[in-house]
Order: sequence, then C-alpha cells, then structure tokens
Amino acid sequence: MPTRLPRLPGAVRGRDFIETRDWTVPEIELLLETSDRLKRAFRAGRPTRYLPDKTVFLFFFDKSTRTRNSFEAGATQLGAHAHFIAAETSQAAHGESPRDMGIILSSYGHAIAIRHDLVPGEGNRYMREVAEHATVPVFNMQCDIDHPFQTLADLMTIREEFGRDLRGRRIAVTWAYAPSYAKPMSVPQGLITLLPRFGLDVALAHPPEWKLMDAPLAFAREQAQKHGTSFEVTGDMDEACRGADIVYAKSWGIESLFHKPEEALALSARYKSWICDERRMRLASKDAIYMHCLPADRNHEVTDAVIDGPQSRVFREAENRLHTCKAVMALTM
Ligand code: CP
Repeated sequence: MPTRLPRLPGAVRGRDFIETRDWTVPEIELLLETSDRLKRAFRAGRPTRYLPDKTVFLFFFDKSTRTRNSFEAGATQLGAHAHFIAAETSQAAHGESPRDMGIILSSYGHAIAIRHDLVPGEGNRYMREVAEHATVPVFNMQCDIDHPFQTLADLMTIREEFGRDLRGRRIAVTWAYAPSYAKPMSVPQGLITLLPRFGLDVALAHPPEWKLMDAPLAFAREQAQKHGTSFEVTGDMDEACRGADIVYAKSWGIESLFHKPEEALALSARYKSWICDERRMRLASKDAIYMHCLPADRNHEVTDAVIDGPQSRVFREAENRLHTCKAVMALTM
C-alpha cells in the first residue's frame, strides 16, 4: 500500500519557471516553503513520490554537474523520470527549431528543462520560444539572463543562515578573476534581480568591463526601490565586502566578448587581485558567510582557506539545489 503524501498546493500548476521575475513574491515563498518541506522529508527518509510516471526532458547546450544531477536525482525522488538530452546529439545541432522541439517534447512528457547559457542574446530567447509552443512547463536550467534554480537555492541557503527576515542584511555580489572560461552572466544577474525583493541590500562590484546587462540592472534598481532595499554598483571589491553579511564572489564574462575568449582572458588577467581571500572576509561582518554557485576556480576566484573555511556555505548551497529543483517540479508538473 503506497504511503499517502501530504497534499501540495495547486496554485502554480502548469507554470513555466524561466526567470524569478516572472513569479510574485508569494509564489516564490511557496517554492521556498515547499523546498524546506521536501528537504525535511529527504533527510527523514520519507517518500515524496508526487510525480509518478511523469517525464522531464533535460536539454543541455552546456556542461553541468549540479544542475543535471539535482534534476536527475530529484526527479527519481519524486517518482518521475529525467531524460537527459545533449543538444549536440539532437537535431537542434542541425537547426531544428525551438518551436518544433517544444511541440514534440510536450507530446512525450510533462516538462522541458533547458540550459542554454553561453551566448548572450540567445538562451533566454530560445527557451521562451520553446515555452510559447509547449503545452507543458518549461524550466530554465540557466540561460544568458538568469539562473533561477541557482538563485532560489541561494535564497534558501541565506534564509537558513539568517532567518526569513533579511531586512538590514547586505550581500556583496562581486566579480572575481577566473582563468578557466567565460562564465555566464546569469548568476550575478539572477542574484541582483531576486534578492532586493526579499529584504536584502545588494552591493554589486566589478571592474568597468564586466558590466551586467541593462535589463537586469534596471529591474534590480526598480525592485530595490519598490521593496525599500538598496542596490549599489561599485568598481571596488573591498568597498562591496566591507560590512557585508554575505560575500558572493565569482567570475563572469564580458557581454561583448563571449565569442572572443582569448581577448576576454587577456583582459581579465589585469584583475588577478580580484580574489576572495581571508583579508577580504575580514572586511565583511563578523558572522559573514561566503557563497559561490560552483564550480569555482580555486585560488583564483577564492582561496582554499575561504572556500574550505568556517564561513563557507558553498556545499549547503549546492545541496539546496536538489530541494529547490524538486519543489519547482512537484508544484508545476
Ligand atoms: N551551479 C551550477 O549551475 O552548477 P553546474 O554548472 O554544475 O550545473
């Protein structure tokens, strides 16, 4: 006899999750409450088979560790099946349209999740086009504009640390040097657009060339004003870290140079001093935490002493990706 599960609210059934700005604060609260509930159930070993016999397609134009595995494990734990598709082995590589893909995958399963994050101007447009023609929810596993599953897990992690009332708390979202590759702009953009809506003051820091896209910057300013929080931009990493409760230091690419990686890398080498180290964490508040979505370029973006130290929350942040992704699937599919 299967265990009877507590009912989940149906308020957001069928909804896409493409950018957090598409969801109201109460709707995001519902996602967070459900994430907490699913996390407790997972830890207690209680079943959460809310999606028996359902399929979510995971369509990847880029590599992944956390996103792919949290979706695959999460789907299994919900009783569903996550079906991995590498874009380069699909007909998308021959130019099959997002419209046709949305129609066809909708007829095979119950949700379509897409990662398309490395070409500014393309990924978000691609998934919105899929969503326009799909009859099932479309999830953004990271695009050029937002990484909503990441920032939802980040907000969950911040609330676990500081409580639900974040008013008066400050986060430094700061660029850091990384030699590995031009990381998408979607994480810092996702953070500045989500967190001012949930009580956090945001200080964004980057060298002049690493400006974020205009639309997320404008939305962050508007939301800070609407919610009585602050949003400031500085060219000084120390200034952003000073007094911060959260230091979120990570690299991202230059919007106009994603197709010229050598040029971007040469430019970024001028800013090797942009690293989150123990000195910078001492500038932050006494109880400050360090966050990073991962993967991190160790000893370039952040020193081992910080990322492995007592202030680091990166592994809890990564763990929470499982629970937030399950919450979105369970409530929408
Ligand atoms: N943070 C994150 O999205 O990790 P992956 O790129 O490994 O999925």
